[in-house]
Amino acid sequence: MNPMLTRSEAIDWTLATVADRIGDPAPLIYQRLFAERPDFEDLFVMDTDGGVRGSMLATSFDCLLGAAGNSDLPRLQLEAARMIHDGYGLRDDDIDLMFRVIRDVCRDTLGAAWTSEIDRHWQDLLTLLARLGRTPS
Ligand code: HEM
Repeated sequence: MNPMLTRSEAIDWTLATVADRIGDPAPLIYQRLFAERPDFEDLFVMDTDGGVRGSMLATSFDCLLGAAGNSDLPRLQLEAARMIHDGYGLRDDDIDLMFRVIRDVCRDTLGAAWTSEIDRHWQDLLTLLARLGRTPS
């Protein structure tokens, strides 16, 4: 792979390569999230067909890709998500966990292809997302 990728290229490359290797990463992402936070699984009992989980993850990917490219949309999406999820008792850090879990699944899937450059771009992105739309404390 080309050295000196932009953040946007690094994130695009990661998600495309993960999709090539394992197809849809959604099952692994939710498996990992619920392994870390079994209490979160209980929040989805009404989501019998997985529709909410699917659309939630789609929005999360939108935020990842948008923020990677410096779009202003993720700030609005995250502001809304943080507010709505507050109603289920979720804190800002809980929302940020979703992005960390997506990163961890990508990192484990890519193995040796996960370079320090890719790692750095993801870390920057997670730091950025954690700031976006955050409730002032
Ligand atoms: C670990 C973190 C998260 C947990 C535990 C969580 C939990 C939930 C739950 C339980 C619902 C279902 C609400 C209902 O219909 O009754 C939901 C919906 C939703 N969440 Fe999350 N959420 C998390 C992170 C996120 C993130 C990072 C985003 C994207 C910015 C997001 C976006 C959404 C959206 C758009 C919906 C509505 C989906 C739909 O009904 O079509 N969530 N979330």
